[in-house]
Amino acid sequence: SGVPSPARDLEGRSVLVTAGGTREPLDPVRYIGNRSSGRQGIAIARAARARGARVTLIAAHVEVDLPTGIDVVRVETTAELLEAATTAAPSHDLVIMAAAVADYRPVTVSDDKIKKASTGEHLTLELVQNPDILATLSHAERNGRLIVGFAAETATDRDDLIRLGREKIARKGCDFLVVNGVGWTTGFAQDDNTVTVLDASGAIVFEASGSKTSVADDILGVFATVLTGAE
Ligand code: CTP
Ligand code: CA
Repeated sequence: SGVPSPARDLEGRSVLVTAGGTREPLDPVRYIGNRSSGRQGIAIARAARARGARVTLIAAHVEVDLPTGIDVVRVETTAELLEAATTAAPSHDLVIMAAAVADYRPVTVSDDKIKKASTGEHLTLELVQNPDILATLSHAERNGRLIVGFAAETATDRDDLIRLGREKIARKGCDFLVVNGVGWTTGFAQDDNTVTVLDASGAIVFEASGSKTSVADDILGVFATVLTGAE
């Protein structure tokens, strides 16, 4: 037929993908979370499998079905994601951190449901920063492992987006950063995405636009080429 067979350029490779949003509990019934649907990360996990890779998906809160035929580890909090990611990373060639990780968690988690105060209108929550999983994985022993971060930025101007991405990859120490714009109506829970891939020097190495499925497949093609070239 005229349908091209999919590239199998990740055959013999292993890919670890994190997806979805972490949730930080306040009490047994409440959490601090974010609007990540997990769509882009799950699309990457599927595309990696289609390209022949062994895939592990660490899924935080997601709003779409999880793929079959891959190893899935479910997590809730950033601490659980850190533990799962540092355990799994050493047995993978490529790590893609597509998860939306909560930057802060409540300092204390109440054992009982927090009651509404009978006096006063304000409630102040004290938060503490979470560990940076991407930076932790990037600065750990690598053995040739490729590490890719994602950055969702609310900048509307493309130059601002890229400037923010360059600053971010310098801080994180990963090999590539996939930058995309988000806002109240773009990015999260949408089927389409536009991404710019920066390398560690901040240079633009790739740009892709389209469905999250096609964007996932396009960027995996870039990383498959890098893995092959590194041999
Ligand atoms: N990330 C992480 N651990 C964190 C926060 C973020 O591993 N505690 C990862 C995300 O999975 C993503 C990348 O870092 O791959 C960039 O996340 P982002 O939120 O854009 O970066 P931050 O450093 O948290 O900066 P800010 O939220 O202030 O823009
Ligand atoms: Ca953040």
